[in-house]
Amino acid sequence: MINQFIFDQDSEDSCESGFRQIFETACAFEKFYVLSTAVEHEIFDALSEPKTSSELADLRGLHRDMTEKLCRAMTSMALLTKNGDNGDKYALTNISKKFLIEASPYYQGDLIKLMKKTREDRWGNLSEALKNGPMEIPRDHTVFDRSFILAMAEAAICGSLQRTMRALRENEDFMRAKRILDLGGGHGLYSIAFARLNPDFEVTVFDYPQVIEGITKEVISGHNGGINLIQGDLTKDGIGSGYDVVFVSDVLYRPEASLVPILKKINTSLNDGGLLISKHYHLDDISEDQTAVFFDLMFTISGGIDLVHSSAKFCDFIEDSGFSVVHVEEIGSPSKIIIAKKVMK
Ligand SMILES: C[S@@+](CC[C@H](N)C(=O)[O-])C[C@H]1O[C@@H](n2cnc3c(N)ncnc32)[C@H](O)[C@@H]1O
Repeated sequence: MINQFIFDQDSEDSCESGFRQIFETACAFEKFYVLSTAVEHEIFDALSEPKTSSELADLRGLHRDMTEKLCRAMTSMALLTKNGDNGDKYALTNISKKFLIEASPYYQGDLIKLMKKTREDRWGNLSEALKNGPMEIPRDHTVFDRSFILAMAEAAICGSLQRTMRALRENEDFMRAKRILDLGGGHGLYSIAFARLNPDFEVTVFDYPQVIEGITKEVISGHNGGINLIQGDLTKDGIGSGYDVVFVSDVLYRPEASLVPILKKINTSLNDGGLLISKHYHLDDISEDQTAVFFDLMFTISGGIDLVHSSAKFCDFIEDSGFSVVHVEEIGSPSKIIIAKKVMK
């Protein structure tokens, strides 16, 4: 049967683009493993000065032939270059200098390490979960370790932080605020940005004790004061009161039963007319919001409790908790900012 397809131009044309899409999807795995392995062995930092693969292997204690082949793979991905004055030495490209050197403000190494861990611990169970349902993977506060929070900081700095600030700067009610709570603020970068936006804002980060002690204090130490810290578990402990704004970003991927009590707690902590500003992934359009589709599936593999809501459903939960939604804005799919005002009693 294969003979009839070999010289058939129509078959060739109709297969070509579909095959390329399938093949590129399949190859994403190889590319990711090359990248994450290089990050794990700090190969990019070692190549701050160009080196042959043997010099690199000796410096990092790696196998010489394997290192040469890994460098070739990275060169094919435009993460390294071998051209120019360096002869047989490998050097960094502009992209790897910007995103893969630890000293760069745009370093993405912790995010890549987190993605590798997530792929191994969670995505590796997809087939099993498909047959037997979500896995019993314990999900507690220990997920939020230093490396996880650094990964969140790296993701924020590459666009969502700047887009959020641009959106909020336009909001007069936000700019008139005095006291702002950054609930589940983790790394504290949003709080630092608020304090820079208006030095008169009094900003507070709330997070687990191990996060505040393990990373937030260190990150905000580079900032000139004015940021308060509260340690606790937002599901059990008080979050303070008298706020004009509660900002909450990528914290509330929860089912209704545990989400609504948190929204009500936020409502109680706000002054009359105060704002809830939520920034989360929302799953509104399956083809547009592909990252949210994968995120939601990943949650379900590993426990089946957490989930990504549509923005309409999320707005319903917000309104059921004593707010009136005043603004919904996409800040780069699938993230949306939802601004809601506390309804005065
Ligand atoms: C995905 S990170 C988001 C960090 C930051 N808001 C951002 O958008 O980059 C979730 C944050 O919420 C915090 N968090 C989650 N559940 C919490 C809880 N029950 N009590 C206190 N903090 C919590 C985590 O420690 C972590 O810092």
